Amino acid sequence: MSALLEVRDLERRFSVRGSGLPWRRPSTLHAVGGVSFDVEPGRTLGLVGESGCGKSTTARLVLGLMAPTAGSVRFEGVDVPSERGARWRALRRRMQMVYQDPLGALDRRLPVDAQVAEPLDIAADGRPAERIGRAHELMAAVGLTPNLFARYPHELSGGQRQRVVLARALIVRPALLVCDEPVSALDVSIQAQVVNLLRDLQSRFGVAYLFISHDLKVVRQVSDEVAVMYLGRIVEQGPPDDLFHRPQHPYTQALVSAIPSPWRGAADARVMLEGDPPSPSALPDGCAFHPRCPVAMPACRVERPALVDLGAGRRAACHRLVPSGGTAPC
Ligand SMILES: Nc1ncnc2c1ncn2[C@@H]1O[C@H](COP(=O)(O)OP(=O)(O)O)[C@@H](O)[C@H]1O
Ligand SMILES: [Mg+2]
Repeated sequence: MSALLEVRDLERRFSVRGSGLPWRRPSTLHAVGGVSFDVEPGRTLGLVGESGCGKSTTARLVLGLMAPTAGSVRFEGVDVPSERGARWRALRRRMQMVYQDPLGALDRRLPVDAQVAEPLDIAADGRPAERIGRAHELMAAVGLTPNLFARYPHELSGGQRQRVVLARALIVRPALLVCDEPVSALDVSIQAQVVNLLRDLQSRFGVAYLFISHDLKVVRQVSDEVAVMYLGRIVEQGPPDDLFHRPQHPYTQALVSAIPSPWRGAADARVMLEGDPPSPSALPDGCAFHPRCPVAMPACRVERPALVDLGAGRRAACHRLVPSGGTAPC
């Protein structure tokens, strides 16, 4: 099966000035530093990492909302253009976005069913009565009851608004939804409902997800494959349960151990990370994680570890790990 989305060596740098210091020379901020991954049709890749590690920038690059500094994004076998012509608009119909804040994504002055039908109106797809009928079908599919169809966004709860946003994204039958922190603004109980809904919609419509969150617990629930990002790079990737139970990279180990678990015994002590991540405009040499790593070796300060195959669908970037078929570091 060929991948729906192929991201290769994607990089995005920004030129930034020190705040309030206009005379300072601009420095280079490495928001995304060479990321590669695939998303298969109808499957979910979860992208997880702390705030500021480059998740939203990756989403914008994938959608062609921002040009990469280097690397490529191919969707359905075609390079995603970074200039917004007719080709970009046609591609964008097949790739939809769901953000964290549904109220910001909706127009406060329009009833929600009109907003769900809007993408069909813009494309003049079907007669007006058919469009609103299709909007109501999709609103029912995302769990909205008919009494809510003609309400205004502010009359709905956060979870209901996110369902409206999902219905509007799905009405054009996209092959991929890029979901950037789609449940982070919702109460925990509502989060679980929306996560279940996303899974249900995937099996009904066959849509693939690039699911982005800082919350490993949520990512595990929705993903077929998880990629862990740290300071603009993927440091570990693999199937969610395996990655969760046997994290290989020290950063993933720390993320997993920070999740409260009734099953974890005293033997699995929490791995506490020291300090904050370094600034992406002053990345350390070698492995970017080494200043916080509890098991760093001298080599980690000098050489950046490559993402290597560990076998069984697992990959990680750490000098302490032995590649599949390789030999242990001395
Ligand atoms: N337009 C921009 N100009 C300068 N820096 C940016 C811009 N967009 C993002 N950044 C920086 O890039 C880094 C990654 O940001 P982002 O992709 O939003 O991370 P995340 O979504 O993981 O929280 C951050 O340090 C952020 O401040
Ligand atoms: Mg973000």
